[in-house]
Amino acid sequence: MVDSRFSILSEEFAAAPDRYFAWLREHSPVHYEPAIDSYFLSRYRDVKQVLTDHEAFTTETLQVRAEPVMRGPVLAQMTGAEHTAKRKIVVRGFTGQALQNQVRAIRANATELVAPFLPRGRMDLVNDFGKPFAVRVTLEVLGLDKKGWRQVTDWLGGVGEFITSITLTDERRRHCMDRARQLETYLVPIIEQRRRHPGKDLISALCTAEFDGIAMSTRDVTALIINVLVAAVEPADKALGLLFKHLIDHPEQLAQVRRDPTLLPAAIAETLRFTPPVQLVPRQAEQDAVFAGTVVPAGATVFCVIGAANRDPEAFTAPDTFDIHRPDLGTARSFTAAAQHLAFGTGLHQCVGAAFARAEIETVAALLLPLLDRVRYSPGFRYRETGLYTRGPASLSLDFTPVHERVAGHG
Ligand code: HEM
Repeated sequence: MVDSRFSILSEEFAAAPDRYFAWLREHSPVHYEPAIDSYFLSRYRDVKQVLTDHEAFTTETLQVRAEPVMRGPVLAQMTGAEHTAKRKIVVRGFTGQALQNQVRAIRANATELVAPFLPRGRMDLVNDFGKPFAVRVTLEVLGLDKKGWRQVTDWLGGVGEFITSITLTDERRRHCMDRARQLETYLVPIIEQRRRHPGKDLISALCTAEFDGIAMSTRDVTALIINVLVAAVEPADKALGLLFKHLIDHPEQLAQVRRDPTLLPAAIAETLRFTPPVQLVPRQAEQDAVFAGTVVPAGATVFCVIGAANRDPEAFTAPDTFDIHRPDLGTARSFTAAAQHLAFGTGLHQCVGAAFARAEIETVAALLLPLLDRVRYSPGFRYRETGLYTRGPASLSLDFTPVHERVAGHG
């Protein structure tokens, strides 16, 4: 039984949010947290309403939650024609022919990164592989030099911490702002260079695009690039780690995916439904709104609890079961605007990187699964997740048959 004084900001919730999802939906679907003066909505239909009623619930909150570290307005803050036009440029940069070329970069980076771990038979999928992989691939597809990926990781860490922290001390705030400014200082000369000599990359596309006959300022391009960098990097290692965790925890489904890799998109979609890496999406109520008999007042900050909405029995049968064959998943739609799960959000601001994210995780999993024979948790490994806003495994130490032994054994 959950105590009525229960807080989403408590250590208990942080340790295992999914243990509280049913209670929240049933007993506190409009959960108020006085310490941060915010409402948390957990029922599928309420979350969907908030994310699709763009007049009543806006992204104004991002002005304080994101703009300071993005060094300008981010895509999710924009509205109307400006949003449509700029969103289109970013979508074009991550779909169609551009995506075909990106798959090559994804495969090459994954192959290079996994190589040193194969003879060892042990790898932390999150820290040895997922994190460096996500930064390196994203830099490469943006046309930035991936040699500097460690430095960029540090800067992005500060930007990500600012956006995903529910509360932040003054000292951490200064740290995050400092990292964001350094990232901006790195990007501005590159953007100015692309303005003079545009290439085929997304930065050049943003520099040469016009909106209402006016080219985007360097500040606007910088903000969009930081926006894409953080949005692409932050959930990637989490989604990959969670996919492997669920498959290892469900050996029969792992065996099926190994036998039939065409099941991978379903396994990825079910991973995103079951454990969405982006757990909270904020909005601002523009007028009083009533959910489950409770008034959310105009001006209030509202957090959509995506993890709880994705486990709502009104939307999915047996929602607490991980099942890549679930008929209500709708795999083909899962990476589009018509997705039933809410891991990519929904409505006007739904993720622009969904197709890229799918390609990224599918390509990597298809490459790793045959290499990681008898993949299992390392002896003594204790699984732990971190994060309230974005959430994923802190690490995922895996053992598998060392590759040289396997080759020698077969030789
Ligand atoms: C598994 C991976 C990913 C997850 C779970 C995810 C999740 C999300 C969610 C929940 C939103 C909605 C935010 C809102 O409504 O306020 C969003 C928006 C966005 N995502 Fe992703 N994302 C992923 C990968 C990516 C990638 C790879 C990119 C870049 C290529 C990206 C770029 C963006 C951008 C730019 C937006 C804002 C769109 C807009 O406001 O129009 N995301 N994402």
